[in-house]
Amino acid sequence: ATRYIKVDPLHPDPSVIQASGDILAQGGLVAFPTETVYGLGANALDGRAVMRIFEVKGRPSDNPMIVHVADLDQVKDLVESLSSSAQELMQAFWPGPLTLVLPAGGVVPPEVTAGLPSVAIRMPGHAVALALIRAAGSPVAAPSANLSGRPSPTVAAHVMQDLNGRIDMILDGGPAGVGVESTVLDLTGPVPTILRPGGVTPEALTGILGKVMVDPAALSSLQAAKPRSPGMKYTHYAPRAPLLLLEGDPRAIAAKIREIATEYRSKGKQVGILAYSDGEDYAGTGQVVLAGQRSKPETVAAGLYAALRRFNDLEVDYILAEGLPESGVGLAVMNRLRKAAGGRILHVVDQDADNLDK
Ligand code: TXA
Ligand code: MG
Repeated sequence: ATRYIKVDPLHPDPSVIQASGDILAQGGLVAFPTETVYGLGANALDGRAVMRIFEVKGRPSDNPMIVHVADLDQVKDLVESLSSSAQELMQAFWPGPLTLVLPAGGVVPPEVTAGLPSVAIRMPGHAVALALIRAAGSPVAAPSANLSGRPSPTVAAHVMQDLNGRIDMILDGGPAGVGVESTVLDLTGPVPTILRPGGVTPEALTGILGKVMVDPAALSSLQAAKPRSPGMKYTHYAPRAPLLLLEGDPRAIAAKIREIATEYRSKGKQVGILAYSDGEDYAGTGQVVLAGQRSKPETVAAGLYAALRRFNDLEVDYILAEGLPESGVGLAVMNRLRKAAGGRILHVVDQDADNLDK
């Protein structure tokens, strides 16, 4: 059975944390809050414990995991070398939603790296996560605590939905703040490259590094480019109903959503609409779920995965989702929406709106 315990997100009960750390030290699995999404942790130096994560999530075994540390000393053992830019980034963004891909040291089991010569490491910005890692006495390997392919969990109830009965412990520390996963930055090549956009924006990284690239596979849904991050090739973050993402001019998107929704409804289908509280009002058009404010992408990041799960509860047949501008964390939101759409993307331009108005 899975133990479920509520903890204070800032000052977790030390005895609860110690009990959870002991579970990790003995090879068990504990779900815990981070500032991005909930993670499913195992002792990162215990290959068998890490294997259990793959089993309970149904995760493809070629998808490597992020190793979570609580202090900088833990990094030295995990890597082969540490460049000065890696150290600068750690100073600037840790603890926080930035994962660095570095040359792996010998102690990291192949289950964690999926056999790659590199390892992904981050220090989470959450008191519960940091206390748990310290109590475990080892770095903690942790993917998001969802079933593979489903939206990542931003509250403990999502973890319960997906993993209750399959893991040893769930620590409920309330809602995750950022709402989308960490930025994965590859530092093993000649130019630092964002493999997965996330909580730390390209704009912020450029401030420290000067030049930063974004892996083309992370930018578009076009699968032509071979992703360098194994995780990015799978369908991800997907609600059960097919999701159509509409990108382009907001007014044209609204007109198109109304047109498509009307057509589906005339066929007796339930239509879900992912929209924003400061955007178009779709009342009467379908089952509207608001993901935040389009003018504040960080609020959309915080609400996105809960909104996608909400469509499962509403049992809609189709989901129509409004795209956002890609500035700031909007890039990460659009990356996740494109993954959720699995290639079903419609580019709507101004001209279409003019035609529809006539
Ligand atoms: O915010 C987060 O990063 C959350 C919380 C729990 O920390 N974790 C998370 O883990 O999102 P996961 O497993 O869902 O995503 C890890 C991503 C995957 O896209 C994986 O392919 C990539 O990191 N990754 C891990 N190790 C890598 C490596 N050595 N080289 C390239 N990509 C790697
Ligand atoms: Mg994940």
